[in-house]
Amino acid sequence: MSHPFKVSTAVFPVAGLGTRFLPASKVVPKEMLPVVDMPLIQYAANEAVEAGCTTLVFVVNRYKHAIADYFDTAYELEHKLEIKGKDDLLERVRSTLPDGVRCVFVTQSEARGLGHAVLCARPVVGDEPFAVLLPDDLIWNRRHGALAQMVAVAERERGSVIAVEDVPREKTGSYGIVSLREGGAAQADALAMSAIVEKPEPAQAPSTLAVVGRYILSGRIFDALDRTTPGAGGEIQLTDAIQALIADDQPVFACRFRGTRYDCGNKFGLVQATLRYALEDADLKAQTLTHMRRLLADHEGA
Ligand code: UTP
Repeated sequence: MSHPFKVSTAVFPVAGLGTRFLPASKVVPKEMLPVVDMPLIQYAANEAVEAGCTTLVFVVNRYKHAIADYFDTAYELEHKLEIKGKDDLLERVRSTLPDGVRCVFVTQSEARGLGHAVLCARPVVGDEPFAVLLPDDLIWNRRHGALAQMVAVAERERGSVIAVEDVPREKTGSYGIVSLREGGAAQADALAMSAIVEKPEPAQAPSTLAVVGRYILSGRIFDALDRTTPGAGGEIQLTDAIQALIADDQPVFACRFRGTRYDCGNKFGLVQATLRYALEDADLKAQTLTHMRRLLADHEGA
């Protein structure tokens, strides 16, 4: 019988350089940039916990202490909030992670690519299926998070699951692009994949279905990563290892998830996400709308 595909570990590869947010990312890891009042890493952790993950593995580099500090207990701050009677804030500071969820920090000593970062998590993950979340892809949802949807698919189909969405053809060079198996099951959340290629030129792209930063991977990916040589950009690409799984006849599905993705790895994506989350916040909605209308009027009058 094939593996039941239970997912309890989530890996967050956060050891990239974040050059698109320089100079801010010189001292603030991009995963700590806030959207309204929570850093990107908190949204991703919440999504993983909601999907049932109880071990969160952060692959960091030596400049990313802030991420470990963020999930640690802040004794002095908590004590001050306590004596000031600021119970709501105290609760928010304490609830970065629910009880029963543990964090493990692993170092990627050199930024050798996303695939290499995932491989660094191997000693913690072992051979079990696991999730990978890139926190700079922030996925907004009114109901179940994207990862919870994918976990349901992985358990049902007993295979790896990659989140995808359609992108304009001229953008394929920024993404991993998938091709689908002809005659494969036509369920939007589980499209059987026949290939995946990293950052193809628009003319060469096999489709416009682009990989988004959520994956559920079989433990076999580690052997594939071990064998993967540097690819696009001279980095060890997760995409190439996923292609090796497919070539080895392992089941890999593309999942069109429900939700809206904001690419917070670039500036405009972070602006868009901030507006979206502000408009979803009962305390901020009215003033945000008023401000946006004023800005629009100013720009149209200029
Ligand atoms: P990006 O392609 O967004 O690169 O990485 P980056 O370095 O974070 O940002 P820019 O492009 O310089 O602005 C995608 C994900 O893979 C992680 C990043 O932290 C991000 O979550 N990553 C990338 C690693 O953990 N290690 C690497 O060697 C490369």
